[in-house]
Amino acid sequence: MLSRKIKEQLRGLQTPFYLYDMQLLGATLDAIKREADQDGYKIHYAIKANNDERILKAVLKHGFGIDCVSGNELRLIRRLGFPADSIVYAGVGKSDPEIKLGIEEGIRAFNCESRQELQVINELAGQMRRRARVALRINPDVDPQTHRHISTGQADSKFGISYREIEQVAEELGQYENLEFQGLHFHIGSQITDMRVFEFFCRRVVALAEWFVERGFPLTYLNMGGGLGVNYDNPDGEPMPDFKAYFDAFRNNLDLRQISGGGPVPEVHFELGRAMVAQCGELVSKVLFNKVNSAGDEVVIIDGSMSELIRPALYEAHHEIENLDARPGSPRVPYIIAGTVCESADVFASGRLLPELRRGDLVTIKSAGAYGASMASCYNMHEMPRVVYSDKI
Ligand code: LLP
Repeated sequence: MLSRKIKEQLRGLQTPFYLYDMQLLGATLDAIKREADQDGYKIHYAIKANNDERILKAVLKHGFGIDCVSGNELRLIRRLGFPADSIVYAGVGKSDPEIKLGIEEGIRAFNCESRQELQVINELAGQMRRRARVALRINPDVDPQTHRHISTGQADSKFGISYREIEQVAEELGQYENLEFQGLHFHIGSQITDMRVFEFFCRRVVALAEWFVERGFPLTYLNMGGGLGVNYDNPDGEPMPDFKAYFDAFRNNLDLRQISGGGPVPEVHFELGRAMVAQCGELVSKVLFNKVNSAGDEVVIIDGSMSELIRPALYEAHHEIENLDARPGSPRVPYIIAGTVCESADVFASGRLLPELRRGDLVTIKSAGAYGASMASCYNMHEMPRVVYSDKI
């Protein structure tokens, strides 16, 4: 972990801050590119995971596109120079101004999540005398075997077009004169670590794709979403997910020739977020106070909080924590590591065994590069978190 190696350089900096390991980021993006290029897979980075501009520039340099979900994300990536053709736009609730922006920019595809959304995009494109490229985000009802808050492709979820409405959508699709139908989009959930989930998912997708092709809708675009998980328990041991195993699941189970039915073979797209950036980031904090609560627990208050990193409070997510100032031979103590914010949920870990922590010690919360800074808030009037880049200190 980077912070351990450069802790003396970090010492004078104002905490808390996100530390990004730009070298690990580059190596991770290289590894994805190597694997994806073998099959001509198109990669879009899910910008919601982390919208830091330097990270985005590295993504752009690798030739990847973007998966965005808001007008502001779209504006940012266009300003940074991402080609419109490399941008796809998902989300259950695109507003009219956001849709108009996407049409104006001529993005690769709106991944549409409802019948009404298709109608509205068609209407707005007509008003603008433009055509919009669309794909259908289908909810395939696959259990991603992950936390329920980050499961997005099951029957009871708000995402995608359901099996109940799919026939009607297919019947209506031909009548939208301002839409260019591209194909299908899916995203079943996040932090998926069992490759069998992706294998099963592929088989569902093949069946659905065939269903569309048989009805006279050739597919040029098949977007498999994101979801690949990272190792939160042992980030030092596994700083990069196994991208080969991930893409193998698709290589071996997504039979494109079978799908094409003799017609065009669809381009396969992915939208990875977490797997690209989670392990490149840490939240570095300082110990403010030690105390003991009435239950006898040792409580350590650090100067980071759920305002900077909400994952533990929101999902009870596990992040490894390290005392960067551990003294040799110091006892390991079971700590409640809590943040500064006035919320009982603002706790990073309970009963976590760590070498004794004292006021002023630097601590790092690992695997915080994805859904860390991008989910930060100003709650309790905190400032948005500072960022330190490994190659700028
Ligand atoms: N595509 C779509 C349409 C998505 O909604 C998402 C994530 C992704 C791609 C990227 O998924 P990934 O490769 O990162 O798993 N805040 C939660 C994660 C929410 C994910 C939302 N959608 C967390 O901190 O765990």
